[in-house]
Order: sequence, then structure tokens, then C-alpha cells
Amino acid sequence: MFSELVKATRSYRNFDPTVRISDEQLKSIIELCRYTPSTANKQSIKFAYANSEEMCAKVFELLGWAGYLTDKPPYDGNVPAAYILVCFDNSIAPDIEIDAGICAQTIALGATDSGLGACMLGSFNKEKMAELFKLDEHIKPRLVIALGRPKETVEIVDVLNGDVKYYRNGKEKHIVPKRTLGEIIL
Ligand SMILES: Cc1cc2nc3c(=O)[nH]c(=O)nc-3n(C[C@H](O)[C@H](O)[C@H](O)COP(=O)(O)O)c2cc1C
Repeated sequence: MFSELVKATRSYRNFDPTVRISDEQLKSIIELCRYTPSTANKQSIKFAYANSEEMCAKVFELLGWAGYLTDKPPYDGNVPAAYILVCFDNSIAPDIEIDAGICAQTIALGATDSGLGACMLGSFNKEKMAELFKLDEHIKPRLVIALGRPKETVEIVDVLNGDVKYYRNGKEKHIVPKRTLGEIIL
């Protein structure tokens, strides 16, 4: 059911590092983006990916995880098995933020649908990431999507007293406050 898919599509930051993700799996998830809406149908969002242990280790070094937590995940080597880099192709159009967001959530939903989990990361060294992936000058990385088989549970609770900060209950459980329906409908 669609509502179940949306609810299960959480930000995961701990993964089973033994579960690898193939090129085919990644390409079929990226392909979903071909069917998303696009401003003036420009389709200026482009993708790169990494799934080898060697490349994933290099990507990992450039990422900023979980700003609200002092003890940063992933824990105990539970690193992602793959990454998709969501980029603007400035040879087609200037940065179209909304299109990048639509693609990112489509990838996250596609990951959940195929038994994986994802985490979008906007906090990363963009210059070094572009160098690592040997991107042309007109390709600008905007988001990294970490992927893998989730190795933690995520619980949603209502926001209390306006506090939206997520927190941990041990290494296995991540808790995310969400505003109630009453609060988000104007
Ligand atoms: C555009 C965007 C950028 C994000 N950047 C990061 C990031 O750099 N590091 C991180 O750990 N999580 C990042 N997140 C994940 C958010 O922290 C997460 O969506 C939020 O805590 C709510 O949790 P949920 O996705 O499970 O609902 C990002 C999410 C979005 C949408």
C-alpha cells in the first residue's frame, strides 16, 4: 500500500555492510527518475553512483552524518553499501532544487520498495565529491543518497513543545519527531 511505503521510507544511517547492491539494482532505482515530473521538462538532474567497497569508503570520508547527534552514526562499521549522487547538469539548466528533491524522494521510495533503505545527505564536501567522481565542470553534485539494507529501527513520534530534534535510544533505535496533522494543516 502506498501509505505504508511512504511511512517505511525513513532516513537510515546504519546498514548491513555484507549486503552489497548491484549495478542493475542501482540503475533500476535511478531509472524511476525518468518518470518523475520536471520543471519545463528540462530533465536536468543527472546521477552518478558508487557500489564498490573501495569507492564507498572514499565517498564516506566526505559525508556529514546526523547533525543533531553527538555520537555520529553509522555505528560498529554499519556503513552504506552504495551511494547515488544527485547532480544538476548546468549545461541544460541552472540548479533546479525542486527537481532534485522530487528525484531524491523517488529514489528513496524505490529503495524501500526493493528491500533497501536510504539516507539523503546534503552535508558533504561538494568540491571533493566532484573530484572523486571525475565530474565535468557543468555537473554540480547536490545530494548524496546513501543506500543499504537497514540495520536499525526508526520510530516516529509526535513533536512535543516544538522540539524537532531526532534522538537515539541506544545504537539500534532512532526516534524522529514529526509535527501532527493538526499542526501542518493551515
Ligand atoms: C535535503 C535533505 C538533506 C539532508 N541532509 C542530511 C545530512 O547531511 N546528513 C544526515 O544524516 N541526514 C540528512 N538528511 C536526513 C534528515 O535528517 C531526515 O530526513 C530527518 O531527520 C527526518 O527523518 P526521516 O527522513 O526518517 O523522516 C537530509 C534530508 C533532506 C531531505
